Amino acid sequence: MAVQRLRNRPCGGRYGDIVQSIGNTPLIELPSLSPKPGVHIWAKLESRNPTGSVKDRVARALIEDAEEKGAIAPGQTILEPTSGNTGISLAMICSRRGYKLKVVMPENVTPERTQLLTMYGAEIVYSPGDQGSNGAVAMALEMAAADSSVYMPYQYGNQANPNAHYNGTAVEILEELDEISAFVAGLGTGGTLMGNGRRLKETFGDACKIVAAEPMQGEPVQGLRSLDDGFIPPIIDISLLDRKIFVTNRDAISWTRKLLDDEGVFAGVSSGAIASIAVRIAGELDEGNVVFVVADDGWKYLSSGIYTLPVDEIENLDSTVWW
Ligand SMILES: Cc1ncc(COP(=O)(O)O)c(C=O)c1O
Repeated sequence: MAVQRLRNRPCGGRYGDIVQSIGNTPLIELPSLSPKPGVHIWAKLESRNPTGSVKDRVARALIEDAEEKGAIAPGQTILEPTSGNTGISLAMICSRRGYKLKVVMPENVTPERTQLLTMYGAEIVYSPGDQGSNGAVAMALEMAAADSSVYMPYQYGNQANPNAHYNGTAVEILEELDEISAFVAGLGTGGTLMGNGRRLKETFGDACKIVAAEPMQGEPVQGLRSLDDGFIPPIIDISLLDRKIFVTNRDAISWTRKLLDDEGVFAGVSSGAIASIAVRIAGELDEGNVVFVVADDGWKYLSSGIYTLPVDEIENLDSTVWW
């Protein structure tokens, strides 16, 4: 029985402050999505981090890396391009550690992101919405080049990003499972796939397939990128990926709803995209564990209306609207 294999901890631990409590997220089985009795699908609920996303791990790693290198001092301005989650995580941590934060973010993200960033005291500079996260990266790089007083952690090119997963997320997953046939995550900066992928390949070799969920070109899903858009983040080593599978925007939304309706998991849209690929991979196996990452929760997407939309209307959505 799957339930007997769950090792529930009595409490979430004791920490000196909110930043220290990042990580140690639960791994939960999704029995209704598993296609065969011997195949188990597990969701690593990164939505259970303090600001509601996997990026809390990355933001802490980026700040601590800069502190260890002596690259930043309290009062200094930190500048970072983001599609939202990294900015929100950095904003929370900067507010605790005494740094100012300026984020460059596409103008067409959901208003909840603006509210959360403002709530934690960050300054927001908007980049053109039609250029997506690539536009935010280009604008932030220009701003950093023009002002030497700011420090840009640059999650797209900073090894502290994948290392947060190599030393954190993957270690926690390995504490719970001693066999993993496939690991599925979305491709944004590539940090989740590279850090977990490296650790899981070191542990299981080629028996564990590393699979990226990638949005179709021109159908962006918030948080994810298509490598065909022309920018390959420097931290990405494509040879670590066994497969890259495209997801349509409609599938991302309908699987976000399936996570909610069938399993009670209230997740963001990229998690729907990732879940759809995890289920597809699970269908190709006869036995084994498939782990996928729920990158964030659904609160930041509520205003989009997708959680209350009648399911039969998802088919009719303009697939380019959801970012
Ligand atoms: C909601 C969401 N999902 C997935 C990702 C992808 O994660 P990574 O940057 O580690 O590739 C991100 C990254 O920003 C994200 O915000």
